[in-house]
Amino acid sequence: MSALWALAPAKVNLCLFLGARRADGLHELVSVVEPLSLADVLELGPAPDGVGADEVICPGVEGPNLAAAALAAFRQASGWDAPPRRLTVRKRVPVAGGMGGGSADAAATLRLAAAAAGTGRSFDLHDLARRLGSDVPALLRPQPALVTAAGEEVRPVPALEPHWVLVLPSPQRLPTPAVFAEADRLGLPRAPDDLAARRDEVERTLARGRLAASVMVNDLEPAALSLCPGVAPALRAAREAGADHALVSGSGPTVVGLFTTAEARERAQAAVDELSSRFAGACVAAPVDPALAVPRPLETAT
Ligand code: C5P
Repeated sequence: MSALWALAPAKVNLCLFLGARRADGLHELVSVVEPLSLADVLELGPAPDGVGADEVICPGVEGPNLAAAALAAFRQASGWDAPPRRLTVRKRVPVAGGMGGGSADAAATLRLAAAAAGTGRSFDLHDLARRLGSDVPALLRPQPALVTAAGEEVRPVPALEPHWVLVLPSPQRLPTPAVFAEADRLGLPRAPDDLAARRDEVERTLARGRLAASVMVNDLEPAALSLCPGVAPALRAAREAGADHALVSGSGPTVVGLFTTAEARERAQAAVDELSSRFAGACVAAPVDPALAVPRPLETAT
């Protein structure tokens, strides 16, 4: 069986409204998730001779790896019993940065394993994705989506009006559970009727094909600001460099600047040129559609 590769696009939360903590420990939320051209690169092929079990090579990520968990979960749920595989993950997305990199890798691993096993059409990957983590379902088929419940309800939405995204990574990492816990400590979660009203507002603006500035809000931002001193200067830098909107991505600490008005691409690139000496890894990303993330034979790699 030949090797396959796939991209694992990062996500940005164009808005994130936080609700109450549920009995299972996860929080209700209302979010618009958008996949970006900034992506990890995954390759799934036969393990070298003598290797007796699946292995995951992922330089830059220590400890348990969600991609390894995804491969094991796929094996178990599908009964796929092909000889051991080697999964290689080349990281491009900031690690523990609020851009869903680990979840994107897990989702891409499920796409790759399904393609390799030939069960892609009949097998319910969504259920597996849900069990792997709350960001994984939205990244299974990367496209703009309204995400509700604690991440398991994913409704694709039409592409939003053209825009470009300035990504300012942080040298710090923020564990997602710590950010949600800080949000609780700060009393940030909204009451159910407030969250429902925010959802209605988001739906109204999505129906117009654009997100109004009033909903480009990340309720986790104060928690990320509280835990990571680098977030405030990054938000300031994105605004001063001309972003039409600046917000923390997901649980942070990565900051994104959205360029939505005239000459957005050129202005976003100028912002990168200006800021890359202060923010290592600063880049411009664009929204992508699901075709970008489809697994392909390795010979087609560019
Ligand atoms: O699901 P995932 O593994 O990405 O979540 C990591 C942690 O982030 C959870 O254990 C929980 O503490 C927090 N979280 C949350 N509510 C969500 C998503 C994540 O409280 N909707």
